[in-house]
Amino acid sequence: MKNYTKIKDISNLSEIIKDAILLKMNPFEFEDLGKHKTLVMLFFNSSLRTRLSTEKAAKNLGMEVMILNVNDAWNLEFEDGTIMNVDKSEHIKEAARVISQYADIIAVRAFPTLQDKAKDESEYILNNFKKYATVPIVNMESATAHPLQALADAITITELAEKVKPKVVLSWAPHPKALPQAVANSFIEMMQDLEVDLTITHPEGYELNEIITKDTSINYNQDEALKDADFVYVKNWSSYKDYGKVNNQDKNWMMTKAKLGHAKFMHCLPVRRNVVVEDTVLDSQQSVVIKQANNRTYAAQIVLKQILEAL
Ligand code: CP
Repeated sequence: MKNYTKIKDISNLSEIIKDAILLKMNPFEFEDLGKHKTLVMLFFNSSLRTRLSTEKAAKNLGMEVMILNVNDAWNLEFEDGTIMNVDKSEHIKEAARVISQYADIIAVRAFPTLQDKAKDESEYILNNFKKYATVPIVNMESATAHPLQALADAITITELAEKVKPKVVLSWAPHPKALPQAVANSFIEMMQDLEVDLTITHPEGYELNEIITKDTSINYNQDEALKDADFVYVKNWSSYKDYGKVNNQDKNWMMTKAKLGHAKFMHCLPVRRNVVVEDTVLDSQQSVVIKQANNRTYAAQIVLKQILEAL
């Protein structure tokens, strides 16, 4: 693997899932692969799971890890040809090439503005690192995608599925803040490549990018969509049509034990209790969110392993 910025960078999904599960059983099997290699992790935004699981994954492979909260460094300019006489101190052209001298792999977390759709969809931060860095790039959640999360989700469903083609429902939930569409986008793309029966349910007006949803079934009636579900993945996203807006906070979309039925409950975390999902779901045996978060390590580790092998 050359980079992992999108799901399509995975060449063989069933094989990478199988190999991640094997790594989970023997995490130190390749502890010399990353010897004298450094992962630099750049955070433009907060993180708990991505930061710790990716660091753990790199260390399991014997890598050194350096972490930079980019907001503590110089303010970066991403536009070409600008006169940098206001607030930007350093251009991505220099920054990416300098960091590449310290890193064998660069991982980047950079959320969307949720104000400028075209700018967000250009993935200007991630793609400028890809353009100017001279080492592989890993996406730790960008403006439109969270492929490490989606790989962990695919591993979790593969491990826990009790039938060949489980029914998986992605269900929108209310949230007081405007959140990105990235997790939902990548989950949908990943499920389209996995042997599952996928349904999306959300209120009208919360349609995601049609380029991503393609012909996946969308049902505006949550109760109907949830019928006979094996896995229910709950996630809020702000409106894609009315870009970045929170137009609906209908509490009736919160996931409850009654709605969940016998399904397993999934969420990428962090999650707001009794807003997105009620306590009785998260505190039940049906919740697999902690297992999901554990699988973030092995998703990151198999990705780093494949990149190291291709260096
Ligand atoms: N799920 C996820 O990416 O968690 P963090 O934002 O804490 O990294």
